[in-house]
Amino acid sequence: MSRKVTEFVCESCGAKALKWAGRCNACGEWNSLKEKSIGSHKAGWVASEIIARNLDEIPSVESEERWQTGVQEFDRVMGGGFVKGSIGLLGGTPGVGKSTLILQLLSRIAKTNREVLYISGEESASQIKQRANRLVIDQKNITILIESNLEKIIACLNDVKPAFVVIDSIQTLFSDQISSSAGSVSQVRETASLLMQHAKTTATSVLLIGHVTKEGDIAGPRTLEHMVDYVLYLEGERKEQHRMLRCVKNRFGNVNEIGLFKMTGKGLAEVSQPNRLFADRFSSDDPGTSIFAANEGTRTLFLEVQVLVGDTHQPHPARTTMGMDRNRLQVILAVLEKHLRMDFSKNDIYVNLAGGFRVVEPAIDLCLIAALLSSHLNRSLPVESVFWGEVALTGEFRTVPSLESRLHESERCGFKNAYVPVFKDTKLHKKISNLNIVPVRDVQHLMDLIG
Ligand code: TYD
Ligand code: MG
Repeated sequence: MSRKVTEFVCESCGAKALKWAGRCNACGEWNSLKEKSIGSHKAGWVASEIIARNLDEIPSVESEERWQTGVQEFDRVMGGGFVKGSIGLLGGTPGVGKSTLILQLLSRIAKTNREVLYISGEESASQIKQRANRLVIDQKNITILIESNLEKIIACLNDVKPAFVVIDSIQTLFSDQISSSAGSVSQVRETASLLMQHAKTTATSVLLIGHVTKEGDIAGPRTLEHMVDYVLYLEGERKEQHRMLRCVKNRFGNVNEIGLFKMTGKGLAEVSQPNRLFADRFSSDDPGTSIFAANEGTRTLFLEVQVLVGDTHQPHPARTTMGMDRNRLQVILAVLEKHLRMDFSKNDIYVNLAGGFRVVEPAIDLCLIAALLSSHLNRSLPVESVFWGEVALTGEFRTVPSLESRLHESERCGFKNAYVPVFKDTKLHKKISNLNIVPVRDVQHLMDLIG
C-alpha cells in the first residue's frame, strides 16, 4: 500500500526537516519551511532491478563521446569538449556573457548536425534572434524554446529528443510539484535533479546556466555543484573586455586550465596568445606596480599588480583588494610588520590586479610585497622585471611550482630580470641565459635589493 510521504524544505537555505516549524533550524529564517511530497520519483524501484556490476564491465568514456566545439579556449578548459550525456553548470554574474558564449558554442555543436535546444526563461525569441544575428553564427539546427515550466520542458524534450540542451537560466525554472517560487532553493534543486534524471536516462547532454551573486555563490543553488558533472564560471569585470572561463569541478578532466576571451561587438573572441595581455604597461616605472608571472594550467600569464599605500584618515585603515584574497594581504602585512619592523597601522592599502583578473596562487606574494614596498617607499621597481614566490610566516620566500616554465616564458617575452625564491637547480641559470635571475632569500633581502 502506498503512503503519502512528505518532508519540509527551507526555501531560504534548502535544509530539510521532518516536522514543520515556524523557524528554520539551520538558517534561522522565519516561515520558510514548505511541505513537499517525496517518494514520487522513487516509486517503481524493485529489488530485482538493482544490479551490482563488476567495475571491469563498465564501458569507459571514449574520446569519440566528447563533442569538441572547435572553440579551443573552451575545449581546453573542458579537457576536450562536452562529454555526451553529461550535465553541467555555467555560472557568472549577470551581463558577463553567459548567454553569448553558450549561443556561440551551440552553433558549433549544431554544425555537426546534432540537434541542439536552447531553452530560455529570461528572454524573448526575438531577443535571442537579435543576439544570434549579432554573433553572425550559423543558426541552422538550433531550436529555441521560451519556457520556464519544467513539466512542459520535459514533454518537449521527449518530443524533440535533442542531443544537447541548454537551460538559461536554472533560476527561472519552476516545477508544478513544488509550491515555492522560481529561483528558490527548493525549486532550483528539484528542477535540476529532475532534469538530471532525464539527462542520465536519455543520454542527453544538459548545461544549466546559473546567475552568481556578488559574493560568488551561484545564487541559492550552490547545492547544485555537487550534483552536476562539471562546473564552469565565466569571470570578468563588465567594464573590462576580457573574460576568463574557469572550471572548478570536472568529473571528466582536470580543473587547472582557464580559457581566455575578449568581448567584442560580435560576441566572445578567443585570446590564444595571452602572455602580455594583462601587463601591457610592463615597463612602467610607476611606484607601486609590479609584474607577476602567473601559472594558469599550461600557460604563464603576466599580470600587473598595483598597490597604493596612503595615509589613513579613519580609525580603521582600509584594506581593499580586487583580484586577490584580502586575508592574504593581511598575512603579508603581518609578516612585513614583524620582520621589517614596518608599521602600516596609519596606512590605507588598496590592491588591484589589472584587467579584472583574479589570482589564487600564493606565488603572487613576492610580487605583491615588491609593489607594496615600492608604493610605501615611493621608489620604483627595476623596469622589465617580473616577480613571483610564496612568503612563509618566517619572512622567507619559498619556491613555487612551474619554476622552469615561468622562467622560460619570462625570457621569451623579453623581461630582463626575474626576482624569484632561492632554488637548487643550478643548471637553470645556464639554460635561461637572457634573463637575469635574482634569487631572493627573504623579505629583508628583497628590501635590500629594491629599497
Ligand atoms: P549576455 O550574454 O547577455 O550576459 P549574461 O547571459 O551573462 O547575462 O551578455 C551581456 C553583455 O555582453 C551585454 O552587456 C552586451 C555585451 N555584448 C557585447 O558586447 N557583444 C556582443 O556581441 C553581445 C552579444 C553582447
Ligand atoms: Mg543571459
